[in-house]
Amino acid sequence: MSKFRTIWTTADRFVEVIDQRLLPHQLVTVKLTTYKDAEIAIKDMAVRGAPLIGATAAYGIYLAVRELIEKQLDGSFLDTAFSDLRASRPTAVNLFWALDKMQQALDNCEADFLDTAWNMANQIVEEDVETCRMIGVHGLPFIEEISKKKKGEVVNILTHCNAGMLGCIEWGTITSPIYQAIEKGIKVHVWVDETRPRNQGSNLTCYELTRHNVPHTLIVDNAGGHLMQHGMVDMVIVGTDRTTRNGDVANKIGTYLKALAAKDNNIPFYVALPSTTLDMNMKSGFDIPIEERNQDEVKYMIGKSKATGEMDAVLICPETTNASNYGFDVTPAKYVTKIITERGACDASENGLLELFPEYR
Ligand code: MRU
Repeated sequence: MSKFRTIWTTADRFVEVIDQRLLPHQLVTVKLTTYKDAEIAIKDMAVRGAPLIGATAAYGIYLAVRELIEKQLDGSFLDTAFSDLRASRPTAVNLFWALDKMQQALDNCEADFLDTAWNMANQIVEEDVETCRMIGVHGLPFIEEISKKKKGEVVNILTHCNAGMLGCIEWGTITSPIYQAIEKGIKVHVWVDETRPRNQGSNLTCYELTRHNVPHTLIVDNAGGHLMQHGMVDMVIVGTDRTTRNGDVANKIGTYLKALAAKDNNIPFYVALPSTTLDMNMKSGFDIPIEERNQDEVKYMIGKSKATGEMDAVLICPETTNASNYGFDVTPAKYVTKIITERGACDASENGLLELFPEYR
């Protein structure tokens, strides 16, 4: 694995991220120097993916503390920063988890306030790297088993959206077992759903699989069912933005339909879950707030123009047509074969999760 990361700190103790809206065509980095920069990066999806949203918000609080001290602002500035960041995106629970961690660290701070914020944000980042590595360790046996059954032939894995390193810090959740399988010499091929409307599959997953030399094929979102019916998919693995106590899984819109097709075709459907994405306070997936985004994301396709070579937005419906843009859906636990976490794999159920995470009993 390369040491390429999605978020990092600079010598002057600011934060840099990749502007993921421009991938795969341009690799542009952006410096975040205020909490508003972090909030806007999350809102406008320059950064996205549940763990990366959490990490960016954590640094957002560090930046707010820095502004508070440097500009000698009063404490209400920090309260506003917390509430603005909390409102930046609704579905991925990592955002709220990271902000709670920052709040606790600052509430219990006995040392330097700024150092405390800096250290906690860095810790959140480092822990995510190790968490994702371990998801790979525990996910690898599922790929190995299929490879053995197929006598070393290629294992075909279907995924939706981007739950790779671009959604995290390093490794990624669904890509960690894939990268570790490749390192072991297991033959793998990935079917990548394009993931309309923002095309995280075609833009981001294809970009990172290309970077890591992982054989892959881009498919339209509607192709998965057909491939599954024709024995071209051995397993499905997706990420999650919030998994509730009963094992229901919220992930990018369209995930649920893949789970239904997988069930109908007896194909295992795995969810890669860092425990930071667990919401054990929420009983079931139907309570999860589902983000609704601007309809223009559906009405316009963004890409590199064949004619000019520049990035452009193209209208794909009559100007006056209304579009709906739900960002996520919920896959009921009954369609999930196993949840793969940093502590091991478990059934998608309250009991399964509690076996691995007894602290939530
Ligand atoms: O809207 P996005 O791009 O933030 O959605 C991302 C996903 O749905 C990912 O699958 C999820 O956050 C897991 S990232 C490890």
